[in-house]
Amino acid sequence: MKSVLFERNSLHPMELERRELPATGARAVRDLAHEIAVTLGPDPATSSTLANPTLIHLVDARYTELPAAVREAMRAPATTAGVTIVGSVPLDDGELGPTPIDWKQAATWGGDPLTCAASFELDIAMLLLARCAGEPFGWQGQQAGRLVNNIVPSPGHEEEQTGASSTTLLAPHTEDAFHPERANLLMLGCLRNPDRVGTTVSSVRRVELRPWQCDRLSESILPILPDLSYGTEFPTTPAPAVPTLGTDDGRLTLRFDPAYTPLADADPEFRSAYDHLASELERVCITAALAPGELLLVDNDVVVHGRVPFRPRYDGTDRWLKRVNIRLPQRRRAETEAAEDGYGQRIVAPFRAMRPEIGTTLGHRR
Ligand SMILES: [Fe+2]
Repeated sequence: MKSVLFERNSLHPMELERRELPATGARAVRDLAHEIAVTLGPDPATSSTLANPTLIHLVDARYTELPAAVREAMRAPATTAGVTIVGSVPLDDGELGPTPIDWKQAATWGGDPLTCAASFELDIAMLLLARCAGEPFGWQGQQAGRLVNNIVPSPGHEEEQTGASSTTLLAPHTEDAFHPERANLLMLGCLRNPDRVGTTVSSVRRVELRPWQCDRLSESILPILPDLSYGTEFPTTPAPAVPTLGTDDGRLTLRFDPAYTPLADADPEFRSAYDHLASELERVCITAALAPGELLLVDNDVVVHGRVPFRPRYDGTDRWLKRVNIRLPQRRRAETEAAEDGYGQRIVAPFRAMRPEIGTTLGHRR
């Protein structure tokens, strides 16, 4: 099933919760990131992979030095819309260098002070902010395990259902819906967005469903397969069927990725309920057109996100976002998910490895 979300769902900025970082607090984020970068010294391996344990230690040890107002702004979205714009991390377009053409170039350039001086410092800033919210983590099979992903349009990927696409609608989806360890919270940081390309967000807590539709969508009928950003080689283990809807403290949660769900395998009644949910998600969709320096916090248990189509330029001025996956220690998911193997995909969780107590309060409901 293809989504029918179009650009006519234009800006409804008043529906978005918005929080402002105080100017001194926003500056403190950049200053602390700069200080950590200087402490680490020039090291292309560190800046291209972000895997240096000293970097992780410094972020973990020092994010609490940020002003309380910054840490408060990074809490999970508080409204039923499930999304929050946080403004703004100060940055100057001139310090970014050209937009890379793919995540590999972004990682490489991030280690070169001549081409992309600010990218590494902004990666550190993203990690500091994400650590304020919870536990940042990555995926071994996505962007080489990098904790901060670069989202840019890439030649040859225009029509894919991945963040590297451009000319096609990126259909609304739960991030990493196929995996039981998917993020609770996504942070999208905007570096550059000259055409104000919109990120679409739809909350399951704003849709209207009949009781029978809720019941059917709460059954485990179909699997959700990994998306193309993880490649195409997966173990041939059986794909577990998972429920589309769940609950957390009696409130609806969602696990939804129609582009990677074999809907043709379901019975007509289930497909009807699924199609109705998709049309409701379209009805309640709102669009966030991020400006440079703004952050979008997306509750990945409640909200599906996508992106309207746009025409890439490939001239160094394209839209450029940084994305961080975040676990929220207080969240629980259904116990049944604990048995899923996630198609062999493993998370990269250095903050938990360093401080195991972060993980002790994470997990699934018992
Ligand atoms: Fe996504």
